[in-house]
Amino acid sequence: MSKGAYALTTPIYYVNAAPHLGTAYTTIAADALARYERMNGYDVSFVTGMDEHGQKVADTAAAHDMEPQEWCDSMEPAFRDAWDMLDITYTDFVRTTEPRHAETVRKFWNDLYEKGFLYKGAYEGWYCVHEETYYAESDLEKNEEGEYVCPDCKRPVQKTSGEENWFFKLSDFEDKLLEFYEENPDFIRPVTRKNEIVSFVKSGLKDLSISRSTFDWGVPLPFDEGHVAYVWADALLAYLTGIGYSEPERAAEYEAAWPMQYHFVGKDIIRFHCVIWPAMLMAIGEALPEHVFAHGFLTVRNAETGKAEKMSKSRGNAIAPREVIEKLGVEGYRYYFMTDVTPGTDGAISFGRMEQVYNADLANSWGNLISRSTNMCIKYFEGATPERDPEAAGYAENPLAAAAEGIFERYAAKMEAFAYGDAAKEIMDLIHAANHYIEDSEPWTLAKDPAKAGELANVIWNLLEAIRISAHLLMPLMPSTSAEALRRIGCEGEAATDDMGASCVWGQLTAGLPVEKGEALFPRLG
Ligand code: MSP
Repeated sequence: MSKGAYALTTPIYYVNAAPHLGTAYTTIAADALARYERMNGYDVSFVTGMDEHGQKVADTAAAHDMEPQEWCDSMEPAFRDAWDMLDITYTDFVRTTEPRHAETVRKFWNDLYEKGFLYKGAYEGWYCVHEETYYAESDLEKNEEGEYVCPDCKRPVQKTSGEENWFFKLSDFEDKLLEFYEENPDFIRPVTRKNEIVSFVKSGLKDLSISRSTFDWGVPLPFDEGHVAYVWADALLAYLTGIGYSEPERAAEYEAAWPMQYHFVGKDIIRFHCVIWPAMLMAIGEALPEHVFAHGFLTVRNAETGKAEKMSKSRGNAIAPREVIEKLGVEGYRYYFMTDVTPGTDGAISFGRMEQVYNADLANSWGNLISRSTNMCIKYFEGATPERDPEAAGYAENPLAAAAEGIFERYAAKMEAFAYGDAAKEIMDLIHAANHYIEDSEPWTLAKDPAKAGELANVIWNLLEAIRISAHLLMPLMPSTSAEALRRIGCEGEAATDDMGASCVWGQLTAGLPVEKGEALFPRLG
């Protein structure tokens, strides 16, 4: 039975470039949580998509001699294929140029206009097209030529003189936002980001320009057709579109899924998610999402300077997911990024480290345990899970039952805090215990002594049970190899559990299930 709705999002990605490891990182992290919550019985809405409007995309299209829409259409397969390849289980893919999304944008801003939160004014200031962000002069930095540059991406900024815009009264929300952060200390995760946001809001909020009148690649505002919505005033609303805000036939889904549980974002876009977005929702009278989780950047060491730099297409250091998949496979890729790169901080990546983690955890430990255990079951019990012998050693008291005791609770606490690496460590502890158990109990010696048949049955059963539980726990990170591991020990049907906690209780494996050997799940690299 469903425990109810659980909704989460990735950012919707600018379509100026194809996905790279950095953008894929957010998507896989969100997918692992989506899968985990589904396995806990929630009805999960998982929204992702493409951010297609704004000057950056329009400029990119022009640089390719294409119309903006044509360019965006040409980019859709790059995103969909990357997410399919990485086994991402999104439930809605929002393109901001879709009519249903234009309807969301019109409906939302029209409502705020009618509620009196918008006014028309002249915008004097600076704009960075790359960041699609407005800056006050005092925020800017200067480059070696003395030009003003963006404090975030260091590119020259554009001066905007007296452009007539619509403004959202963001400054009205300063106190309300501070009160909200105080009452919901867990809204922004991790806590370092929360502190950053609180001091930003305390330093004073300016009203926000939410429309542009100097170009037309956006959604025209219903109350002033000469203006299109500012790209962020459009993009954030994709989260509502993705659960049916503008589609009357999805009203029940919207009601159940809003407010959402999680927005996953990179640390560069938290002000939009933790300041502007909550203020927009407060203004319209909607409940606020429960959490925004901001992760750090994947970085790459610059060969010339030796410094770690954010991976990005424009820096020319972007690595395509396919390059890693060719090395580690999809599952190895997912496992490495979710367990070896700490979500809250920046993480340098290297192919050497990937190979090390893959070989140690997946090839030598997990893969090895599966192949040795299934082989022994085939050899000693004709490929059927043995019947345990309550009279023989290893029945109740054994190191694997002890290691599995309370494992789900320990793992769940870590998964829910996005400490995926620590969650994986819980599983690896069980897997290592199982590999040691093989050495310590020497099934090949037990097999030679008919008096030890009961003990041998218990040992093999314990190993298969440890594999069953480990496969369940690994499923959110590595869905297909975990399902395959379950299949090889005759527990195929369990892959679709909606009560992970119950499935991971020790002692459930039944006797007589068909056990199969197969190709190495994680062939050793190097
Ligand atoms: N379109 C906006 C988001 C709108 S959400 C309503 C946007 N798009 S983006 O394509 O530039 O970035 C999307 C996400 O990818 C951001 O969360 C960003 O932090 C993340 N990453 C981009 N490069 C990254 C790394 N090198 N490492 C980790 N994440 C990175 O911003």
